[in-house]
Amino acid sequence: MKLSIKIITLFPKFIGSYLPSFGILQKAEKGKLLDIKPVDLRQFGLDVRQTVDGRPYGGGVGMVLRPDVLHKAIQSAAKSKIKNLKSKIILLTPQGKKFDQKTAHRLSKFDQLIFVCGRYEGFDERVRSFVDEEMSIGDYVLMGGELPALVISEAVMRLRPGILGKIESTHNESFSPVTDFNGRQKQSLLEYPQYTKPEILRVKSKALRVKNLRVPKVLLSGNHQKVEEWRKKEAEKRTKKRRPDLLN
Ligand code: ADE
Repeated sequence: MKLSIKIITLFPKFIGSYLPSFGILQKAEKGKLLDIKPVDLRQFGLDVRQTVDGRPYGGGVGMVLRPDVLHKAIQSAAKSKIKNLKSKIILLTPQGKKFDQKTAHRLSKFDQLIFVCGRYEGFDERVRSFVDEEMSIGDYVLMGGELPALVISEAVMRLRPGILGKIESTHNESFSPVTDFNGRQKQSLLEYPQYTKPEILRVKSKALRVKNLRVPKVLLSGNHQKVEEWRKKEAEKRTKKRRPDLLN
């Protein structure tokens, strides 16, 4: 089934301008595997001025997105003619659970994802009661949820069958989850190093000495078992050095 992604935002043009830059997305759209659309929050605004926000009760700086406006927008985006659609509504906020590759795999099993982007100083707390999950893409604060929604969308859609070619398979890549001996899903190792032509690359170092950068001999040996062993060892070495937290 097609994956439908809706991104509720005050900046639909911002989302729209990113979509063609995902060359891969365009291909997927043609194949009817993916439908990704911004939903303009302003169209659900109140009165003639299409108001979407208000001053915070109790005082304070900035404006807060209204829960009634967001509720209408979410209800409208969630409407579907398809029965038993597997759907998730996700609010983007730095206070959410941190997004990772394991979550990308989990979300890739849904038919419809609705992202709700906050902006300005925030949104009314009651919005939290009508979304399924809250997600953050990292411990830093962005201007709004638009980029996080696009980041998550790209990580998820590339895991859907048929979107990537066989060549760009998602097996063996960094962070793809593996099942451990207890049947638990955990993050895998970082990906092993890759090489291509030329076999020997001559470059000048910073000290202007000529250096030969060589492809590891084992990769030229034609011995598949040795290559596999080397890759596994390199992946482990690299993970231990760069991301020891993944080994816990
Ligand atoms: N909105 C602002 N910053 C964010 C972040 N880091 N993740 C998700 N949504 C956000």
